[in-house]
Amino acid sequence: GRKRIVVTKPLPGDLWLNRLIDADCKVEVYTATDVLGVDALRAAIGTRCDAVLGQLTESWNDALFAALKSAGGKAFSNVAVGYDNVDVEAATRYGIAVGNTPGVLTETTAQMAVALTFAAARRIGEAERFLRAGKFKGWMMTLLLGELLWRKTVGVIGAGRIGSAYARMMVEGHKTNLIYYSPHPHPDLEADIAAYADFLVSRRQKPVSCKRADTIEDVLREADCVSLHAALNESTYHLINAERLALMKENALLVNTSRGPLIDEAALVEHLRKHPNFRAGLDVFEDEPDLKPGLSELDNVVIVPHIASATRWTREGMATLAAGNAIGVLSGCPAWNKPDISPFLAEDPPLASP
Ligand code: GLV
Ligand code: GLV
Repeated sequence: GRKRIVVTKPLPGDLWLNRLIDADCKVEVYTATDVLGVDALRAAIGTRCDAVLGQLTESWNDALFAALKSAGGKAFSNVAVGYDNVDVEAATRYGIAVGNTPGVLTETTAQMAVALTFAAARRIGEAERFLRAGKFKGWMMTLLLGELLWRKTVGVIGAGRIGSAYARMMVEGHKTNLIYYSPHPHPDLEADIAAYADFLVSRRQKPVSCKRADTIEDVLREADCVSLHAALNESTYHLINAERLALMKENALLVNTSRGPLIDEAALVEHLRKHPNFRAGLDVFEDEPDLKPGLSELDNVVIVPHIASATRWTREGMATLAAGNAIGVLSGCPAWNKPDISPFLAEDPPLASP
């Protein structure tokens, strides 16, 4: 009979829905505005559910995969590239394939990291609040001076798809040097930056440099701006803590578009308080949707509500990819027989322990 697909929140566009309908699926979309908890998700799964398209705000734990398994479920599609909300090990034990949505959000998310970089460097949020409050009395040489990110050094922690895209945008757009930390080298990124450096030299301009750091500390010490692009797991939890913040330049920038818990947010609030020239641009927070006390009162931080992948094209692409992942599994891709392999799950190797 027709497969029953549960979609835990409305998704944008209709391509994803058409794909499921074309694959002979009956689709049930839940429209509650609240985040669905375990009980609500269990009720949504019911007694018969072939696959779920779920959200990063839901905690897909052992109990839920047990429920999905007894409902005949074969696939769980996280409509996100990050899957720290999914107990992949439990899903695998129950023979349920897990999918995520890499690729379609790479440039979109990297562009938001660039936007936050410059919003922080050039004090956009602060300047807008100033203007809207009616405080602008005319052009002034000393008004709202920020940082020039040109020929400076950008640090990237986690140089996967998004981190590499951000690095390229910064290096090729703003002629910054790059220092990156990643558990393994990224020869394509390094070769492209080396080629760009050669190009600059051929135009009688100063080259840019690219270096893979041995430690996260080296990145923090050297970079004028550090952007985080690592997946959240035990090895990256509170990767940025008080001690590491203390290593950064007094007027450095810290950008986070990955996951909030990579930063000890209370320590960051403290650091921002003590160092008015230090600035941060944050898309993600430790206790989403809540902010740590004091964060939103600070002028030297730019905050946006987890929207780094929020372009129409990307969000429709994520939904369509998530639908395709579920259809792939239900129509008998290898995960059907080899549940220990989640073929649609992009590998993100853990960073070394802090
Ligand atoms: C969004 O945060 C995602 O992981 O796709
Ligand atoms: C600034 O507006 C300038 O003209 O220098």
